[in-house]
Amino acid sequence: MQLAEKQVVVVGGSQGIGYETARLAAQAGAKVTIMGRSPEKLQAARDRLGEVQTAVVDITDAAAVHQAFAAMQHVDHVYIAAGSFVGGKILDGAVDHFRAALESRLWGSVHVIQSAASKIPAGGSVTLTGGLSTDRPVAGAWVTAVATAAAEQMSRALAVELSPIRINAVAPGWTDTPMWDAIFGEAKQGAFQEVAAKIPTGRLATAEEVASAVIFLMCNSAITGEVIHTDGGHRYV
Ligand SMILES: NC(=O)c1ccc[n+]([C@@H]2O[C@H](COP(=O)([O-])OP(=O)(O)OC[C@H]3O[C@@H](n4cnc5c(N)ncnc54)[C@H](OP(=O)(O)O)[C@@H]3O)[C@@H](O)[C@H]2O)c1
Repeated sequence: MQLAEKQVVVVGGSQGIGYETARLAAQAGAKVTIMGRSPEKLQAARDRLGEVQTAVVDITDAAAVHQAFAAMQHVDHVYIAAGSFVGGKILDGAVDHFRAALESRLWGSVHVIQSAASKIPAGGSVTLTGGLSTDRPVAGAWVTAVATAAAEQMSRALAVELSPIRINAVAPGWTDTPMWDAIFGEAKQGAFQEVAAKIPTGRLATAEEVASAVIFLMCNSAITGEVIHTDGGHRYV
């Protein structure tokens, strides 16, 4: 019940891991605001979540992020889920294509932290999103690996710089969310089965399982500068 009456903001809260984090936080009694680019997705999420605030924000737009947080007096915990998979081999793509990965995960997180930090009390937290690709990069997705590593390293570096605000990261492995529908379409279940067979837990994580790690990081005030891996041990095989 440590989140009861707390103000929780989820940037990228309209679907997937962010949505599940918003749902668990609201269930624990928090006052939740979800942000994202699509008003339709935010509305659909609100229809399912019930009493949450929404704000249409692109995390790469510094002014929009600042404006959204300026409207809030107090924020206890922020989770930044916004970010996406950017593929392509380094020799095959234009820099602007690759830049998008860092615009959202690194600089977008900077926009959020610069806008929110003055409103977060001692012991409050920001949780960033890294990923399996930090420890287990694959050819053809180098920039996503750089971006997830940046988020994870930012949690360590900012834990010492922004103290007593706590900064952590969650590093998901393959997780069944709408992100993969956009990438695999109808081939999604087949791809998931192939991956599941290789990893120690023999299954993909659910978005709720990743979200519960985020909630844990919000609630445990002894933890800062930490990265929690929810990858089923995938980085060891
Ligand atoms: N699913 C996995 O297997 C996996 C594995 C490792 C890491 N991750 C990372 O975990 C995070 C969440 O993943 P997910 O699978 O839940 O993703 P998802 O289903 O694609 O959801 C992403 C959420 O972020 C929002 N969003 C995306 N770009 C945004 C932007 N520029 N500004 C504001 N909001 C934005 C989306 O809404 P709008 O599109 O409306 O903006 C949506 O609400 C991502 O950073 C992802 O890269 C996921």
